[in-house]
This record gives sequence, C-alpha cells and structure tokens, in this order.
Amino acid sequence: MLTRSVLVLASVLSSACGQLAFPPGFRWGAATAAYQVEGAWNQSDKSPSVWDHFIHTTPGVVADRSTGDVAADSYHLWRRDVEMLEELGLQFYRFSISWTRLVPNGFANVISEDGRRYYDDLINGLLESGIEPIPTIYHWDIPQRLQNLGGWTNPLVSDWFAEYARVVFSLFADRVKYWVTINEPSVFCEFGYGAGMIAPGIKDQDIGKYMCVKNVLMAHGKAYRVYEREFKGKYSGKLSMANHFMWYEAETEKDLEVAELIRQFQYGLYCHAIYSQAGGWPTVVEQQIAANSRREGYSFSRLPDFTQEEKDLVRGTFDYMAVNHYSSRTVRKQPSAEHIPASNQFTANAEFNATYEGKEDWPKGNSFWFLINPAGLRDLLVWLRTEYGDIEYLITENGYSDVTSKINDDDRVDYHREYLKQVLLAIKQDGVNVTGYTAWSLMDDFEWVEGYTLGFGLYHVDFSRAERPRTPRKSARYYASVVRANSLDV
Ligand code: NOJ
Repeated sequence: MLTRSVLVLASVLSSACGQLAFPPGFRWGAATAAYQVEGAWNQSDKSPSVWDHFIHTTPGVVADRSTGDVAADSYHLWRRDVEMLEELGLQFYRFSISWTRLVPNGFANVISEDGRRYYDDLINGLLESGIEPIPTIYHWDIPQRLQNLGGWTNPLVSDWFAEYARVVFSLFADRVKYWVTINEPSVFCEFGYGAGMIAPGIKDQDIGKYMCVKNVLMAHGKAYRVYEREFKGKYSGKLSMANHFMWYEAETEKDLEVAELIRQFQYGLYCHAIYSQAGGWPTVVEQQIAANSRREGYSFSRLPDFTQEEKDLVRGTFDYMAVNHYSSRTVRKQPSAEHIPASNQFTANAEFNATYEGKEDWPKGNSFWFLINPAGLRDLLVWLRTEYGDIEYLITENGYSDVTSKINDDDRVDYHREYLKQVLLAIKQDGVNVTGYTAWSLMDDFEWVEGYTLGFGLYHVDFSRAERPRTPRKSARYYASVVRANSLDV
C-alpha cells in the first residue's frame, strides 16, 4: 500500500516537474551567417560578394549607413565565438560559409587556402569543444562576379552552386552531420530580385523573383544530388534548405480560404517541389500566376515551368526540414489587386488579392516586420506536418531584435521562453517531430538593412571598439539554464 502511494506521488511529482521538459536528446544551438559576423571582407584572396558590392555602391540603403566590412570580426575572433557556445552549453553551431572566401573566382576551380583554413579551424575548434558544426552553404552572399552574369536569375546558377557545394562537401563532409544548403530564398528572391531592397537590389516583382525561386530550387536539388551520389554512402549527413516561415492566419472566417492560398504561396512555392509527392509548384499557385499573367498580356506564365525531369530531380531532396520562424500575420481578402498598395511577404500579396496585418494583442517587436505571436510557431509546425508529413523538423532560427545597448534584455528572454513553450506543445500535444532549436543569434551582427541599429544577439557586441568585445546578456544566461536543464522549468 505504502509503496503504491509513494509511486503515485513520485509519478505526479515527476510529471509536474517534467511538464516543461523537452524530450531527451532534444538539441540546442545558436546561429550566425558569414556576411553578418565575419568581417574581413577583402582579406587575403577573398573576392567581393553581392553584399560587399551592394553596400559599397548603394549609399543610404542601410539604416545607419554601416557595412559588414568588419562586422563582429568573427574571422579573427572565432575562438571567442566557440568559447561563447561552450558557455551556453550548446550542442551545435549553425554558421554559414562565404562562397567568395572559399572559392574567390566563383567557379569552383580555385580554392582559397586561407578560406579553407578558416573554416577548417572553425569546424575543428567546434568539434574539439564537443559542439557540432551545422554549416549553411549559402546565406545570401553570391559572388559579385556571378551576379554580373545574372546571379540567381541565370538558370546556369544551379550548376555553379552545385559545383561550389561539391567543393564544400569535399572539404568538410567528413566532419558534418547536418547541412543547410540555402538560407531563406523567400527573402533574397523577393527582396533582392523583386522589391530591390536588399542585394543585389533588382526591382522585378513580376518575373525576377520567380526566376530566382525556380533557380534556387534547382540549385538546392542539384547540390543534394551531388551529396547523395558522392558523399552520402560514406558520411550519411542530412541536408535541408532553410525557409523563412512567417505564420499566416485568417483574419476572420471569411478569410479562411485566402489564408490557405497564401500559405501555399508563401510556403508551397519553396517547399512543394521538394517535399510533396507530386513535385513542382503547388497547383493553385501555378494556375493563379498563369491566369494573372495572361490577363496582364504575357504570352507565358511569369512563374517559370518545371519539366518532368526537373521535378524528379528536385522532389525528395531533403533529410529533414529546416524551419526559420519569427513572426505572424493575419490575412484578409481584398476585392482586387488595385486595393493593394505594395506587395511583399510582410504586407500583402497581389497575386491572390490579400493584405496582411496583425492582431491587437500581438505586440510589435523592434524590427519593422516584427509582430509577436508565440502560438504561430505551433500552428506553423502543425500545418507543415499536415502538409508535408511526419518528418524531422529542426528549428534553425528563432529570436528577437532589440536595441543593442540593452544587456538586461528581458523582452528577449520572454520571447524565447514563450516561443519555446509552443515548440513544447507542438512536440507533446501535437506529436510533431521537432528535434532541436536554434536561437538567432549567437551575438549581435550586421542585421542587413537595419545595420547595427538592432541586434538579435544572446551576446552583445561592442561595435564601437576595434576588439569587438562580446558580453553575455541576461538572455544568454537564461538560454544556458534552459539548455542545461533541457527544460523550461528553470
Ligand atoms: C533571417 C535571416 O536568415 C538572418 O540573416 C536574419 O538576420 C534574421 N532572419 C533576422 O532578421
């Protein structure tokens, strides 16, 4: 009798304590990207990337007129970065490889000795500290030389990228288990080749951005196949493209249908070709853009076709799904595109006549595009699982921006805690197979058009000092305690 009541009490207690515990083996990491932290933009034989060029030739494009020339100087300070990851007790570090540092001429026939050494040292340093490297092969910094030839709008870019990826694999695959091929095409295609807000600054909403998306999918597919054919047998690493998933939900009952169309447009455009059984574009998106194109007088669809062979090449090129998530929008149907002043993933969609807003109880963040709705992450994960299946999901980015002067960053602590609660619900209540979480970012860095006015860092970086000292914020201590406990009960 006594034994039974002791056992009951023990089980009640353990479920109470364990309520906010993550499954054993859940993995914790932090992320950065080359242009945002490395600096050393022209060191050794590195050639200019599209961002080096864009920043140096487009004055005023960045809020504080800053550049990534020095950034957090991780090219020289990577040992300190590894130390910070150790302080946080993390299991992995997601960083990106700069194409122009490793392959300065852009076309894979010359490998930079210094570039190779830099990434070798970083990867070996991480492994010596028991931290797994998760490299992103491409985080927005295509060689300017290739941009001069059309960059992501030239169909040959998929071969150039696959060649570059082969170099990366041949140098580092022996030490890497998880790869991200390409980061957030929806952002660099839409804002780089559509709205012209970020590098390379091309304004071609109607066609440029769709050419970019198609070529990115082909590039990812070809790189995946290179790994599959030449490296997988030996190293069995896992690959995924990382997408930016804003959560879109219907504003009212009347908007349910259009919200689903928007999700097909914003997620399906990047995922359907890879994760669906059929491959290619989601049918509704393909039909809608073709119909819009005809109405506008085009003799072809503004969305480029996939041949059957191309569909087969891209379909199934994943081993897990890399999910970047920050923010949410509500979707409202509009009578026609004339009611839509501007169209981008933060404000509206002219193809489907929808505008996006937020809810009153979703607080605004500091970045211009940021609305806080933690439940959106759970809704997103459930939607993805329903659409693309019971596969492995790894959250490869999630985080909060604030003025960089703040060390006691309570808002960031709250953000991570609340979003992590939703991850936990997705795992425990909905059964989504989320295997890890990545805080964006390890440290303050060059936040694209917002420069250094805002940072997402768990560590503060003092950009006014040449030594770029790093200081842990309150959020770093909080995150370390969560990681240590593998639980939010801290
Ligand atoms: C996603 C991008 O991958 C990263 O480069 C950026 O800094 C964060 N979002 C925050 O905006």
